[in-house]
Amino acid sequence: MPGLFSPFELKDVTLRNRIAVPPMCQYSAVDGVSNDWHRVHYNSLARGGAGLVIVEATAVSPEGRITPGCLGLWNDEQAEKLAQIAREIKAAGAIPGIQIGHAGRKASANLPWEGDDHIVKTDPRSWETLSPSAVAFGSNLPQVPQEMTLADIARVRNDFADATRRAREAGFEWLELHFAHGYLAQSFFSVHANQRQDQYGGNAENRGRFLLETLDAVRHQWPENLPLTARFGVIEYDGRDEETLSEAIDLTKKFRANGLDLLSVSVGFSTPDSNIPWGPAFLAPVAVRVKREANIAVASAWGIDAPLIANQTIEKGELDLVMVGKAHLANPNWTYQAARDLKKEQASWVLPAPYAHWLDRYR
Ligand code: FNR
Repeated sequence: MPGLFSPFELKDVTLRNRIAVPPMCQYSAVDGVSNDWHRVHYNSLARGGAGLVIVEATAVSPEGRITPGCLGLWNDEQAEKLAQIAREIKAAGAIPGIQIGHAGRKASANLPWEGDDHIVKTDPRSWETLSPSAVAFGSNLPQVPQEMTLADIARVRNDFADATRRAREAGFEWLELHFAHGYLAQSFFSVHANQRQDQYGGNAENRGRFLLETLDAVRHQWPENLPLTARFGVIEYDGRDEETLSEAIDLTKKFRANGLDLLSVSVGFSTPDSNIPWGPAFLAPVAVRVKREANIAVASAWGIDAPLIANQTIEKGELDLVMVGKAHLANPNWTYQAARDLKKEQASWVLPAPYAHWLDRYR
């Protein structure tokens, strides 16, 4: 059985191990453009040894940003700056990935460390948010979004396709569509956010339509030989779990039939009234079920940061890839630490030679 340090092949891409850095917003961009903060951040993660580094949620349009500090990919300047980051991740031996998305009704928010709530409407930094229906998330995000017209839906779908083309041209080799976490695509799927009466609302087939159409639009812009993936909240922990999960698995089967190569299994976060069973690797059993029933490669995050547990989930064939998030903020060389903990021979060589040589020599 492969372990944490065995390579992973998907389409024409080979990851050097089964460790991925999931997308993690830095909230440090200006006008959606990345800067030195992002460069140093992504460089250090890539040099730390992970097989895949996925650049944070990057908005397909200005109103699709979560906060004014979020990255964007709706113009060429943004793409040019991200191209440098993609090149550098690749030069460090990791595969450069990027997550593209639209924040929907959770957009127009203050930075997490400046409140994490909606920017008040009278503040010139705020903007109108879009969602399938004019229903607010609630709690710290009370702004009522505009119900999207069919023209809005078509425009955002095209924005996803345009951002995909820019991501490809910028040199990214792994695309992740953000269909999770209560943002726009998740909102279409969610009964908590979607009350539409037309072909985009109502039954599960209709609630999945925007996601499938977006995947289709993106498919045409993304090379057939590179991994096309999505992050999708398949469960809400809202008391409707079995129904949501089986609808999500049915939709995932359609994603796979329409060209999706891997699903990053996550939580929906569509309602503040959820009861999430936080704990080490709590989502892994759900991911295992998605993998088995939808017959698709899966990754998952959420507390899978103990090397022994991470290794077990791979060895048992439960996950194809582990996503290690916050532990990478604490230690960009998490992969090295894991190699040492698992007593891997020459653990240091998960790091680049200018580090590995010395760690190995004076072991
Ligand atoms: C995140 N997360 C996240 N998820 C996502 O799909 N897109 C994103 O841009 C972000 N941004 C983000 C920023 C920060 C600072 C954190 C801590 C988290 C969620 C993240 O990818 C991951 O799922 C969680 O951190 C859970 O994994 P860990 O941290 O338990 O390994």
